[in-house]
Amino acid sequence: MIEKTLVIIKPDGVKRSLTGEIITRFEKAGLKIIGMKMISLTKEFAKKHYPEDIIPRIGGKTLADWKEMGIKTEKDEKTIGRDAWNDLINYVTEGPVVAFVLEGVHAVEVVRKITGSTSPHKAQPGTVRGDYSHISMGYATYRGFGGRNLIHTSGSKEEAEQEIKLWFKKDELFKYKGVHDEHLV
Ligand code: PPS
Repeated sequence: MIEKTLVIIKPDGVKRSLTGEIITRFEKAGLKIIGMKMISLTKEFAKKHYPEDIIPRIGGKTLADWKEMGIKTEKDEKTIGRDAWNDLINYVTEGPVVAFVLEGVHAVEVVRKITGSTSPHKAQPGTVRGDYSHISMGYATYRGFGGRNLIHTSGSKEEAEQEIKLWFKKDELFKYKGVHDEHLV
């Protein structure tokens, strides 16, 4: 039940000086930071983190957003997904990001809850995305820029394991006892 999960503060979060505010929310919930770095992503690395396989999925969701917004289009899911994916790769490589690994009980689920829904317009108040962003993925794609949702957080335990391996070497992760650990045994 003690899990690790990856969080990335994307370029908009860093540029808006929200790094500290975002990290604080996870720390206050008692999650332990066990590794952290600031890096500028190459397009090649960004494509490893967001592989082309996600294109149909994000295309489908963006098309659904468009329908809700009353936007009519001749484009299919794949074309919309490819445009959204290109925007996403440009967005995450437009400035440095801050990546960190959090550890805690049910960390993957808890971190997703604190993060809020993927598309800012659906994210609840009190969540990172709900409090600091509002523009939907659908609108962003329609206007031709990457949907700015401030952070990435791993979607499942399996995804977290793969992502942490991609972003952090073993010796960049640390073991130490935090004050919350006394409740974990
Ligand atoms: S999730 O949270 O895994 O269900 O996200 P998903 O909807 O599958 O989307 C995968 C990532 O693609 C980003 N995304 C987009 N970027 C730009 N434009 C559009 N239209 C778009 N739709 C989805 C989404 O933010 C996910 O990245 P992360 O970093 O996890 O938020």
